[in-house]
Amino acid sequence: MMMRAAVGLWVLSAVICVGRGHHHPDHHLGHGHDKAAQDTGSANSVSLVNEANQEFSFRLYRQLAAHADSQGQNIFFSPASVSAALAALSVGAQGETHRQLFSGLGFNSSLLTQTDVDQAFQTFLQRVNNTSQEDASEGTAVFVDNRFKPKPEFLQTLKQSYFTDGFNVDFSQATESADTINKYVEEKTNGKVDKLVKNLDPNTVMYLISYIYYKGKWATPFDPELTEEDYFNVDENTKVQVLMMNLEDSFNTYRDNVLNGTVLQLPFTSSYSMLLMLPDVMATLENTIGSHCVTKWLKWMKPSSPSRLPTTSLMYCQKWT
Ligand SMILES: *[C@@H]1O[C@H](CO)[C@@H](O)[C@H](O)[C@H]1NC(C)=O
Ligand SMILES: *[C@@H]1O[C@H](CO)[C@@H](O)[C@H](O)[C@H]1NC(C)=O
Ligand SMILES: *[C@@H]1O[C@H](CO)[C@@H](O)[C@H](O)[C@H]1NC(C)=O
Ligand SMILES: *[C@@H]1O[C@H](CO)[C@@H](O)[C@H](O)[C@H]1NC(C)=O
Repeated sequence: MMMRAAVGLWVLSAVICVGRGHHHPDHHLGHGHDKAAQDTGSANSVSLVNEANQEFSFRLYRQLAAHADSQGQNIFFSPASVSAALAALSVGAQGETHRQLFSGLGFNSSLLTQTDVDQAFQTFLQRVNNTSQEDASEGTAVFVDNRFKPKPEFLQTLKQSYFTDGFNVDFSQATESADTINKYVEEKTNGKVDKLVKNLDPNTVMYLISYIYYKGKWATPFDPELTEEDYFNVDENTKVQVLMMNLEDSFNTYRDNVLNGTVLQLPFTSSYSMLLMLPDVMATLENTIGSHCVTKWLKWMKPSSPSRLPTTSLMYCQKWT
Protein backbone atom coordinates (compact mmCIF):
# COMPACT_ATOMS: atom_id res chain seq x y z
CA MET A 1 0.00 0.00 0.00
CA MET A 2 1.20 3.51 -0.72
CA MET A 3 2.25 5.40 2.33
CA ARG A 4 -0.07 8.22 3.09
CA ALA A 5 2.27 11.02 3.88
CA ALA A 6 -0.55 13.31 4.91
CA VAL A 7 -0.94 11.53 8.20
CA GLY A 8 1.28 14.22 9.61
CA LEU A 9 -1.13 16.91 8.58
CA TRP A 10 -4.05 14.86 9.67
CA VAL A 11 -2.58 14.57 13.12
CA LEU A 12 -2.43 18.34 13.28
CA SER A 13 -6.17 18.58 12.94
CA ALA A 14 -6.71 15.71 15.33
CA VAL A 15 -4.51 17.50 17.82
CA ILE A 16 -6.87 20.44 17.79
CA CYS A 17 -9.36 18.25 19.58
CA VAL A 18 -7.34 15.26 20.73
CA GLY A 19 -4.12 16.80 21.92
CA ARG A 20 -5.81 19.67 23.64
CA GLY A 21 -8.68 17.55 24.82
CA HIS A 22 -6.17 15.46 26.71
CA HIS A 23 -5.67 18.19 29.28
CA HIS A 24 -9.27 19.13 29.66
CA PRO A 25 -10.96 16.18 31.32
CA ASP A 26 -8.70 16.71 34.37
CA HIS A 27 -9.45 20.38 34.32
CA HIS A 28 -13.16 19.79 34.25
CA LEU A 29 -13.17 17.02 36.79
CA GLY A 30 -11.16 19.37 38.96
CA HIS A 31 -13.88 21.97 38.77
CA GLY A 32 -16.53 19.36 39.40
CA HIS A 33 -14.89 18.32 42.65
CA ASP A 34 -14.11 21.84 43.79
CA LYS A 35 -17.48 23.37 43.16
CA ALA A 36 -20.99 22.62 44.31
CA ALA A 37 -22.44 19.23 43.43
CA GLN A 38 -24.76 20.58 40.71
CA ASP A 39 -21.74 21.48 38.57
CA THR A 40 -20.47 17.91 38.49
CA GLY A 41 -23.14 16.80 36.04
CA SER A 42 -22.23 19.36 33.39
CA ALA A 43 -18.48 18.86 33.93
CA ASN A 44 -19.03 15.13 33.41
CA SER A 45 -20.98 15.64 30.24
CA VAL A 46 -18.29 17.96 28.88
CA SER A 47 -15.70 15.23 29.36
CA LEU A 48 -18.05 12.58 27.92
CA VAL A 49 -18.51 14.70 24.80
CA ASN A 50 -14.77 15.36 24.69
CA GLU A 51 -13.97 11.66 24.84
CA ALA A 52 -16.60 10.85 22.22
CA ASN A 53 -15.15 13.52 19.91
CA GLN A 54 -11.66 12.08 20.34
CA GLU A 55 -12.81 8.55 19.51
CA PHE A 56 -14.85 9.88 16.60
CA SER A 57 -11.66 11.40 15.09
CA PHE A 58 -10.02 8.01 14.86
CA ARG A 59 -13.12 6.11 13.71
CA LEU A 60 -13.58 8.66 10.95
CA TYR A 61 -9.91 8.41 10.02
CA ARG A 62 -10.11 4.62 9.73
CA GLN A 63 -13.18 4.97 7.50
CA LEU A 64 -11.49 7.52 5.28
CA ALA A 65 -8.27 5.49 5.09
CA ALA A 66 -10.17 2.30 4.17
CA HIS A 67 -12.22 4.01 1.49
CA ALA A 68 -11.35 2.91 -2.04
CA ASP A 69 -11.06 6.50 -3.26
CA SER A 70 -8.30 7.22 -0.77
CA GLN A 71 -5.97 4.36 -1.74
CA GLY A 72 -2.61 5.91 -2.53
CA GLN A 73 -3.97 9.39 -1.77
CA ASN A 74 -3.21 11.90 0.93
CA ILE A 75 -5.94 12.42 3.51
CA PHE A 76 -6.47 15.78 5.14
CA PHE A 77 -9.43 16.48 7.37
CA SER A 78 -10.52 18.24 10.53
CA PRO A 79 -12.46 15.86 12.77
CA ALA A 80 -13.39 18.67 15.18
CA SER A 81 -15.19 20.49 12.35
CA VAL A 82 -17.06 17.37 11.29
CA SER A 83 -18.21 16.71 14.87
CA ALA A 84 -19.29 20.34 15.34
CA ALA A 85 -21.29 20.40 12.10
CA LEU A 86 -23.06 17.10 12.80
CA ALA A 87 -23.76 18.02 16.42
CA ALA A 88 -25.25 21.33 15.24
CA LEU A 89 -27.36 19.40 12.74
CA SER A 90 -28.62 17.08 15.47
CA VAL A 91 -30.12 20.13 17.25
CA GLY A 92 -32.79 20.15 14.55
CA ALA A 93 -33.21 16.38 14.23
CA GLN A 94 -35.64 14.01 15.92
CA GLY A 95 -36.45 10.31 16.13
CA GLU A 96 -34.42 7.93 14.02
CA THR A 97 -32.36 10.72 12.37
CA HIS A 98 -31.36 12.05 15.77
CA ARG A 99 -30.56 8.55 17.02
CA GLN A 100 -28.29 7.91 14.02
CA LEU A 101 -26.48 11.23 14.37
CA PHE A 102 -25.84 10.59 18.07
CA SER A 103 -24.66 7.06 17.49
CA GLY A 104 -22.43 8.11 14.58
CA LEU A 105 -20.82 10.78 16.74
CA GLY A 106 -20.44 8.33 19.62
CA PHE A 107 -22.75 10.18 22.05
CA ASN A 108 -24.47 7.74 24.40
CA SER A 109 -28.07 8.96 24.61
CA SER A 110 -28.64 7.33 27.99
CA LEU A 111 -25.86 9.52 29.40
CA LEU A 112 -26.08 12.66 27.27
CA THR A 113 -28.98 14.85 26.18
CA GLN A 114 -28.86 17.19 23.20
CA THR A 115 -28.58 20.08 25.67
CA ASP A 116 -25.51 18.47 27.29
CA VAL A 117 -23.93 18.15 23.86
CA ASP A 118 -24.79 21.76 22.98
CA GLN A 119 -23.26 23.03 26.22
CA ALA A 120 -20.13 20.95 25.75
CA PHE A 121 -19.60 22.37 22.25
CA GLN A 122 -20.23 25.86 23.55
CA THR A 123 -17.43 25.38 26.09
CA PHE A 124 -15.12 23.78 23.53
CA LEU A 125 -15.67 26.43 20.84
CA GLN A 126 -15.29 29.26 23.34
CA ARG A 127 -12.04 27.80 24.56
CA VAL A 128 -10.68 27.51 21.01
CA ASN A 129 -11.67 31.12 20.46
CA ASN A 130 -10.18 32.29 23.76
CA THR A 131 -6.82 30.57 23.55
CA SER A 132 -5.80 31.12 19.96
CA GLN A 133 -7.58 34.18 18.68
CA GLU A 134 -4.76 35.27 16.39
CA ASP A 135 -4.07 32.09 14.43
CA ALA A 136 -7.18 29.92 14.51
CA SER A 137 -10.74 30.38 13.45
CA GLU A 138 -13.37 27.69 13.62
CA GLY A 139 -17.07 28.09 13.16
CA THR A 140 -20.33 27.14 11.58
CA ALA A 141 -22.88 29.05 9.55
CA VAL A 142 -26.35 28.27 8.33
CA PHE A 143 -27.81 29.55 5.05
CA VAL A 144 -31.57 29.27 4.95
CA ASP A 145 -33.77 29.69 1.89
CA ASN A 146 -36.25 32.59 2.04
CA ARG A 147 -39.17 30.17 1.53
CA PHE A 148 -38.12 27.92 4.44
CA LYS A 149 -38.77 28.85 8.08
CA PRO A 150 -36.80 26.77 10.61
CA LYS A 151 -38.08 26.79 14.19
CA PRO A 152 -36.71 29.84 16.04
CA GLU A 153 -35.40 27.56 18.86
CA PHE A 154 -33.22 25.74 16.33
CA LEU A 155 -31.55 28.94 15.14
CA GLN A 156 -31.34 30.24 18.72
CA THR A 157 -29.48 27.13 19.95
CA LEU A 158 -27.16 27.17 16.94
CA LYS A 159 -26.31 30.80 17.63
CA GLN A 160 -25.84 30.38 21.36
CA SER A 161 -23.95 27.05 21.54
CA TYR A 162 -22.29 26.68 18.15
CA PHE A 163 -21.80 30.43 17.51
CA THR A 164 -23.47 29.86 14.16
CA ASP A 165 -23.97 32.84 11.89
CA GLY A 166 -27.36 32.71 10.16
CA PHE A 167 -28.26 34.09 6.73
CA ASN A 168 -31.29 34.16 4.48
CA VAL A 169 -30.59 33.39 0.84
CA ASP A 170 -32.58 32.72 -2.30
CA PHE A 171 -31.43 29.25 -3.35
CA SER A 172 -33.49 29.47 -6.56
CA GLN A 173 -30.68 31.83 -7.65
CA ALA A 174 -28.10 29.02 -7.55
CA THR A 175 -25.06 31.05 -8.66
CA GLU A 176 -25.74 34.01 -6.39
CA SER A 177 -26.35 31.85 -3.33
CA ALA A 178 -23.17 29.85 -3.99
CA ASP A 179 -21.27 33.16 -4.23
CA THR A 180 -22.72 34.31 -0.92
CA ILE A 181 -21.58 31.10 0.82
CA ASN A 182 -18.15 31.08 -0.81
CA LYS A 183 -17.51 34.76 0.03
CA TYR A 184 -18.42 34.15 3.65
CA VAL A 185 -16.05 31.17 3.98
CA GLU A 186 -13.29 32.96 2.08
CA GLU A 187 -13.40 35.81 4.56
CA LYS A 188 -13.41 33.47 7.58
CA THR A 189 -10.44 31.45 6.31
CA ASN A 190 -8.23 34.35 5.24
CA GLY A 191 -8.85 33.60 1.57
CA LYS A 192 -7.62 29.98 1.80
CA VAL A 193 -10.97 28.34 1.10
CA ASP A 194 -12.74 30.25 -1.66
CA LYS A 195 -14.77 27.54 -3.41
CA LEU A 196 -16.57 25.55 -0.77
CA VAL A 197 -19.71 25.04 -2.85
CA LYS A 198 -20.55 25.03 -6.53
CA ASN A 199 -23.51 23.94 -8.66
CA LEU A 200 -26.00 24.30 -5.81
CA ASP A 201 -29.33 22.58 -6.32
CA PRO A 202 -31.99 25.36 -6.69
CA ASN A 203 -34.29 23.23 -4.48
CA THR A 204 -31.90 23.51 -1.51
CA VAL A 205 -33.68 24.74 1.62
CA MET A 206 -30.77 24.95 4.03
CA TYR A 207 -26.99 24.75 3.98
CA LEU A 208 -25.12 24.15 7.21
CA ILE A 209 -21.38 24.66 6.84
CA SER A 210 -18.40 24.30 9.11
CA TYR A 211 -14.99 25.84 8.48
CA ILE A 212 -11.65 25.82 10.21
CA TYR A 213 -8.59 27.95 9.65
CA TYR A 214 -5.29 27.50 11.39
CA LYS A 215 -1.98 29.20 10.80
CA GLY A 216 0.60 28.40 13.41
CA LYS A 217 4.03 29.86 13.94
CA TRP A 218 6.68 27.28 14.82
CA ALA A 219 8.11 27.77 18.29
CA THR A 220 11.46 26.99 16.62
CA PRO A 221 11.22 28.38 13.08
CA PHE A 222 12.83 26.70 10.07
CA ASP A 223 15.47 28.67 8.20
CA PRO A 224 14.38 28.98 4.52
CA GLU A 225 18.08 29.11 3.54
CA LEU A 226 18.46 25.51 4.67
CA THR A 227 15.64 24.18 2.48
CA GLU A 228 16.96 21.86 -0.22
CA GLU A 229 15.90 19.05 -2.54
CA ASP A 230 16.13 15.56 -1.11
CA TYR A 231 14.49 12.15 -1.43
CA PHE A 232 11.29 11.28 0.39
CA ASN A 233 10.57 7.55 0.76
CA VAL A 234 6.94 6.97 -0.16
CA ASP A 235 7.39 3.25 0.54
CA GLU A 236 10.21 0.69 0.34
CA ASN A 237 10.27 0.91 -3.45
CA THR A 238 9.25 4.47 -4.25
CA LYS A 239 11.27 7.63 -3.74
CA VAL A 240 10.25 11.10 -4.80
CA GLN A 241 12.40 14.20 -4.87
CA VAL A 242 10.90 17.07 -2.88
CA LEU A 243 11.99 20.27 -1.18
CA MET A 244 12.86 19.52 2.43
CA MET A 245 13.07 22.00 5.25
CA ASN A 246 15.93 21.36 7.66
CA LEU A 247 16.26 22.02 11.33
CA GLU A 248 18.50 20.70 14.07
CA ASP A 249 17.24 21.07 17.60
CA SER A 250 15.98 19.05 20.51
CA PHE A 251 12.32 17.98 20.21
CA ASN A 252 10.01 15.67 22.11
CA THR A 253 9.92 12.19 20.61
CA TYR A 254 8.45 8.84 21.54
CA ARG A 255 9.05 5.35 20.23
CA ASP A 256 5.70 3.53 20.28
CA ASN A 257 6.25 -0.22 20.51
CA VAL A 258 2.56 -1.05 20.13
CA LEU A 259 2.01 0.88 16.91
CA ASN A 260 5.61 0.33 15.89
CA GLY A 261 6.45 3.84 14.95
CA THR A 262 8.23 6.99 16.07
CA VAL A 263 6.40 10.16 17.09
CA LEU A 264 7.80 13.67 16.89
CA GLN A 265 6.22 16.75 18.43
CA LEU A 266 6.74 20.15 16.82
CA PRO A 267 5.27 22.88 19.00
CA PHE A 268 3.76 26.12 17.74
CA THR A 269 4.07 29.38 19.65
CA SER A 270 0.46 28.87 20.80
CA SER A 271 -0.78 25.99 22.95
CA TYR A 272 -1.08 23.84 19.80
CA SER A 273 1.52 21.45 18.47
CA MET A 274 1.93 19.19 15.47
CA LEU A 275 2.42 15.49 16.09
CA LEU A 276 4.11 13.51 13.32
CA MET A 277 4.14 9.76 13.33
CA LEU A 278 6.51 7.71 11.22
CA PRO A 279 5.04 4.20 11.21
CA ASP A 280 7.17 1.15 10.36
CA VAL A 281 4.08 -0.21 8.58
CA MET A 282 1.29 2.15 7.62
CA ALA A 283 -1.47 -0.46 7.97
CA THR A 284 -0.47 -1.15 11.60
CA LEU A 285 -0.82 2.53 12.41
CA GLU A 286 -4.18 2.78 10.67
CA ASN A 287 -5.64 -0.25 12.40
CA THR A 288 -4.34 0.49 15.88
CA ILE A 289 -4.29 4.25 16.43
CA GLY A 290 -6.79 5.71 18.89
CA SER A 291 -7.06 8.60 21.33
CA HIS A 292 -5.34 6.51 24.04
CA CYS A 293 -2.20 6.53 21.84
CA VAL A 294 -2.08 10.30 21.64
CA THR A 295 -2.70 10.54 25.38
CA LYS A 296 0.21 8.16 25.97
CA TRP A 297 2.55 10.03 23.60
CA LEU A 298 1.83 13.40 25.19
CA LYS A 299 2.43 11.92 28.61
CA TRP A 300 5.66 10.07 27.91
CA MET A 301 7.41 12.11 25.21
CA LYS A 302 10.97 13.12 26.03
CA PRO A 303 13.28 15.64 24.44
CA SER A 304 15.67 13.99 22.05
CA SER A 305 18.45 15.51 19.98
CA PRO A 306 18.46 14.92 16.18
CA SER A 307 21.33 12.44 16.28
CA ARG A 308 19.22 10.01 18.28
CA LEU A 309 16.31 10.00 15.83
CA PRO A 310 16.11 7.75 12.80
CA THR A 311 16.78 10.01 9.79
CA THR A 312 13.61 8.85 8.08
CA SER A 313 11.47 10.40 10.77
CA LEU A 314 13.25 13.70 10.29
CA MET A 315 12.59 13.47 6.59
CA TYR A 316 8.99 12.74 7.27
CA CYS A 317 8.57 15.81 9.36
CA GLN A 318 10.53 17.98 6.96
CA LYS A 319 8.31 17.15 4.05
CA TRP A 320 5.25 18.37 5.85
CA THR A 321 6.50 21.41 7.66
C1 LIG B 1 -24.49 3.88 27.35
O1 LIG B 1 -24.42 4.05 28.73
C2 LIG B 1 -25.10 3.04 29.46
C3 LIG B 1 -25.09 3.45 30.94
O2 LIG B 1 -23.77 3.65 31.39
C4 LIG B 1 -24.42 1.71 29.22
O3 LIG B 1 -25.08 0.68 29.91
C5 LIG B 1 -24.43 1.42 27.71
O4 LIG B 1 -23.70 0.24 27.44
C6 LIG B 1 -23.83 2.57 26.93
N1 LIG B 1 -24.03 2.35 25.52
C7 LIG B 1 -23.02 2.33 24.66
C8 LIG B 1 -23.38 2.11 23.23
O5 LIG B 1 -21.86 2.52 24.99
C1 LIG C 1 -14.17 35.27 20.34
O1 LIG C 1 -13.34 36.26 20.90
C2 LIG C 1 -13.59 37.56 20.42
C3 LIG C 1 -12.53 38.49 21.00
O2 LIG C 1 -12.22 38.16 22.31
C4 LIG C 1 -15.01 37.96 20.79
O3 LIG C 1 -15.29 39.26 20.29
C5 LIG C 1 -15.99 36.95 20.19
O4 LIG C 1 -17.31 37.25 20.61
C6 LIG C 1 -15.64 35.56 20.63
N1 LIG C 1 -16.46 34.58 19.94
C7 LIG C 1 -16.89 33.49 20.51
C8 LIG C 1 -17.58 32.55 19.61
O5 LIG C 1 -16.71 33.24 21.69
C1 LIG D 1 -13.53 32.78 27.42
O1 LIG D 1 -13.18 34.12 27.78
C2 LIG D 1 -14.27 34.84 28.37
C3 LIG D 1 -13.86 36.28 28.53
O2 LIG D 1 -12.48 36.42 28.74
C4 LIG D 1 -14.61 34.16 29.71
O3 LIG D 1 -15.70 34.82 30.33
C5 LIG D 1 -15.02 32.72 29.43
O4 LIG D 1 -15.24 32.03 30.65
C6 LIG D 1 -13.92 31.99 28.65
N1 LIG D 1 -14.47 30.70 28.28
C7 LIG D 1 -13.74 29.57 28.32
C8 LIG D 1 -14.45 28.33 27.94
O5 LIG D 1 -12.57 29.54 28.63
C1 LIG E 1 5.74 -4.52 16.27
O1 LIG E 1 7.04 -5.01 16.07
C2 LIG E 1 7.35 -6.15 16.89
C3 LIG E 1 8.82 -6.48 16.71
O2 LIG E 1 9.18 -6.40 15.36
C4 LIG E 1 6.42 -7.30 16.49
O3 LIG E 1 6.69 -8.43 17.32
C5 LIG E 1 4.98 -6.86 16.70
O4 LIG E 1 4.09 -7.87 16.27
C6 LIG E 1 4.69 -5.56 15.93
N1 LIG E 1 3.38 -5.06 16.30
C7 LIG E 1 2.40 -4.93 15.40
C8 LIG E 1 1.11 -4.40 15.96
O5 LIG E 1 2.52 -5.19 14.21
